[in-house]
Amino acid sequence: MTAQEAYTELKKRIREISILSTTAGVLYWDQEAYMPRKADDHRAEQLAQISRLTHEWFIDTKTGDLLATVEGSDLVKNPESEASVNCREWRRLYDREVKLPTNFVEEFTRVTSKAINVWAEARQKSDFAIFQPDLEKIIDLCRKKADLIGYETEVYDALLDAFEPGAKTAEVESAFKGLRTELVALIAKIKDAPKKPDIGILRRPYDIAKQKVFAQIIAVAIGYDFEAGRIDETVHPCCNDLGPFDTRVLTRYYANDISEGITGTTHEVGHALYEMSRQTKEHWGTPMGDTPSLAIHESQSRTWENIVGRSREFWQYFYPQLQRIFYQDLHNVALDDFYGAMNWVAPSYIRVEADEATYNLHVMLRFEIERSIITGELKVTDIPGEWNSRFKDYLGIEVDKDSNGCLQDVHWAHGAFGYFPTYALGNLYAAQFWQQAQKDLPGIADDFAQGKFDRLLAWLRDNIHTQGFKYYSNDLCQRITGQPLSHKPLLDYLYDKYAGIYGITR
Ligand code: CO
Repeated sequence: MTAQEAYTELKKRIREISILSTTAGVLYWDQEAYMPRKADDHRAEQLAQISRLTHEWFIDTKTGDLLATVEGSDLVKNPESEASVNCREWRRLYDREVKLPTNFVEEFTRVTSKAINVWAEARQKSDFAIFQPDLEKIIDLCRKKADLIGYETEVYDALLDAFEPGAKTAEVESAFKGLRTELVALIAKIKDAPKKPDIGILRRPYDIAKQKVFAQIIAVAIGYDFEAGRIDETVHPCCNDLGPFDTRVLTRYYANDISEGITGTTHEVGHALYEMSRQTKEHWGTPMGDTPSLAIHESQSRTWENIVGRSREFWQYFYPQLQRIFYQDLHNVALDDFYGAMNWVAPSYIRVEADEATYNLHVMLRFEIERSIITGELKVTDIPGEWNSRFKDYLGIEVDKDSNGCLQDVHWAHGAFGYFPTYALGNLYAAQFWQQAQKDLPGIADDFAQGKFDRLLAWLRDNIHTQGFKYYSNDLCQRITGQPLSHKPLLDYLYDKYAGIYGITR
């Protein structure tokens, strides 16, 4: 067999696995959006079966043999060629997955799939004790996973690497340290600011059916293709990639808060725009059509949710339309008052509803807690207490109940330890990319005021979406911006915005 034949065979094989795993994606999507509650057990079995199959298929010695044939050939001479990029990542994943026994993978999926509903019940009743036994099982499995995969210095590295390839816990810790001090100072300035917007404008009854229409108007305007996706409702918003030309957004609307439906939908549509433009027929199901990391993915959702969707220019264009839809509520509210309210800053319990200034503190708290659970320094029974005391330290407020504290996020039920840091890293990447986009595209923010978003989308496509997994996150950032990742662009961006709204100076 020639190297070219081996490569073709390998690509075919991995694509078949991707077809199977996106089939599981449909089941996940249905579980989050429509599945009746009593279907839990059977759905867990379905998902466990598919994860066993994809895992077995991938770690088969055939994959390793084909890889070895290509790796020794001229096909991978140029490190940026399609074959090189794909083989580099297939090798990395193969070496990682081959260490995980099939029984273990199946067990992991079964336990976490069932735990999602236990978590939902615990959250609804605000009772951590309901979730605790399942969480203990999950943490044991995560530790076991890290041990099986292996790590150089720290257990958490092995888990982090699954979401943020190449990142190390110690690097994340030092990036967060500088950011934390700056954010705490910024939030203190805002607390004592000379002027403050009125959040009450957003927190009135707003008809949900009308909110949905408005959210879809925004989605279409920024580039979402309803012929290649749907937008449905859920408890925990997300974006599911079900294959080429099928990207499903799940969002939620609140009857007494108009901002959540808008920002939540724009966020998930931001993820979807990335999916929609990176999945070419040629590269679908391979690393060349994949993302370098969850932080890069999140940088896209935060760009649309915050940098675009909370900008004054964006609302210059959309606010008159919103006023027409909600005439009674908004006809006598000025643009700047609405824009200010959309950028209101105040410590609050729920991460996904947090403003841009306090958000990253929510993430740091989770990262620190996860790290000490995984090392065993923190016991599962002590999570609520530890959470609440750190929350008081960072955000200055007392957590009133577990559903507003450690039970608010679904990630631990999914077994996704190592995931949270990518949210804050995503914000840092988003701000750094935006700083560069402004240099490359003069007057880009003025486009938004005219309802034009195609120049920015094209820039993101060229620089990020169509690059697939050619480069690791840090390298991609260096290539696009000429600098390694830094927290400075985010702070510049925040101070710039809040100077106008709150009248603060640096
Ligand atoms: Co996101």
